[in-house]
Amino acid sequence: AADKKLRLTEVHTDTDGMLDIARLDELVPDWAERETWACGPAGMLDAAERHWSEHGVPERLHTERFRPSVVVAGDGGEVTFSTTGKTVDADGATPLLEVGEEAGVLMPSGCRMGICFGCVTPLKAGAVRDLRTGEITEAEPGVLIQTCVSAAAGPCDIEQ
Ligand code: FES
Repeated sequence: AADKKLRLTEVHTDTDGMLDIARLDELVPDWAERETWACGPAGMLDAAERHWSEHGVPERLHTERFRPSVVVAGDGGEVTFSTTGKTVDADGATPLLEVGEEAGVLMPSGCRMGICFGCVTPLKAGAVRDLRTGEITEAEPGVLIQTCVSAAAGPCDIEQ
């Protein structure tokens, strides 16, 4: 931008409010003719996908989501972190990584989006649901779960 090779438009949520997709014409008049890369909260990306589709150019929008889309809302249940000795109630949509962190459990993590496997932890008892696919994993010896994309599907015990 300093070399005048591109035009940088900054919109800061704290001072300018949330970016309203309807303002796009004013900020970037030729947006529909350009490739766009977007990353941010799910609500904003959903609005962007609708906007690009309504204008007939969905292929020009490329989004990156850092939170898995919830396919099936699970049952939730009482989650025990047996190594730390903490037990908390969790809903069926919150990743166990967040449940543990909020309970003060030191949880291993990395990408927080199901890619790096930095959060894998043994599931000692109970069942969890994969928030991306809805698939249920039940505890059995040697079973590891990715806590960043798994939620409680009933009472469970996470070895952490
Ligand atoms: S933190 Fe990367 S897969 Fe869970």
